Amino acid sequence: MPVLAPGESLSPRHPPRRDPSDGPPLCAVEPAGLTAGQAAAWAESLPLSARFQLGPVVTEGQLAFLARHGFAVFDRVASFEEVDTILAEVDRIEAELLAAGCTTVNGVPVWFGLDPDGRDYLFRMGFTSTYSEWLSRFVRDDRFDPIRRLIGDNARIGEREKDGVVFNRYVRDARSIRPGLAWHTDALRDVFYNWRMPGPMLNVGLHFDRIRPSDGGLRLLPGTHTQGVASTLFRKIHFVTQRPDPAELAVETWPGDLTVHDGRMWHRVEAAPVSGWPSLRRSMYVPYVCDTWHPKDENSPTPLYLRAFDLVMKARRARALRQSATRSK
Ligand SMILES: [Fe+2]
Repeated sequence: MPVLAPGESLSPRHPPRRDPSDGPPLCAVEPAGLTAGQAAAWAESLPLSARFQLGPVVTEGQLAFLARHGFAVFDRVASFEEVDTILAEVDRIEAELLAAGCTTVNGVPVWFGLDPDGRDYLFRMGFTSTYSEWLSRFVRDDRFDPIRRLIGDNARIGEREKDGVVFNRYVRDARSIRPGLAWHTDALRDVFYNWRMPGPMLNVGLHFDRIRPSDGGLRLLPGTHTQGVASTLFRKIHFVTQRPDPAELAVETWPGDLTVHDGRMWHRVEAAPVSGWPSLRRSMYVPYVCDTWHPKDENSPTPLYLRAFDLVMKARRARALRQSATRSK
């Protein structure tokens, strides 16, 4: 078990803000022995801000909430020490990638920009757990097994498949390459190729920062995971529309929270209203895969959808470097 005693944890460069007087609300407590119908009624009675405890199984009520709204938040699944250790491991990996001049990992671009201090800063990378034995053990820990079974009894963690374990850092600053992310669904590719909606696409994310709705962060349009092709294609312009939606939900997080959201729903990341280090928000997405085993390696090509983003990120980085050069003159 990768649970760390206080003395064993590592210290990240930027620990999350932790305020003992600002704990999360209590988790929704499900009455025992509900039938499927009762569980659905119980889930329907909960506010969208409901938080759940992750136990040895995902309960009927939790499943009903996820089926109805397309997402669920599980309370602080990673401990204080694990959150710090993951963030510190990413600091170490960032230094390793920089020293090696690494620009892609297994075909997935590594996005470096500048931080608020003007230093090279990792904004996104894939296959993170392949750089850390400890992180690899953490993502495979037994506590996540009920989440794995949500995707499928034969689902596995694709540490070397798809984009692997993706680590995101969002920071807002004049030179930031990635302050937020516009509205999108993850179903666009399937709709494009097959002209029909794919089955559930559950995204499993860990959140490392205390994010209030006023801090920006993950925004979802609850219930849109069951939308059709037309709404997926035309309700918003993928990766362009930024405007808040009156029906959107701000997902509030405490360090260590785990979220499951169905990628078929509209979602985005709202940039923080402040700039500099107080705007920092970090998340990590763990891929669960049921398809045939397709591991990637250093010869794997960059997926088409990432190539376009990579050009944008490179252009933003070049602009940030020019701004820095102008500032230091
Ligand atoms: Fe997404």
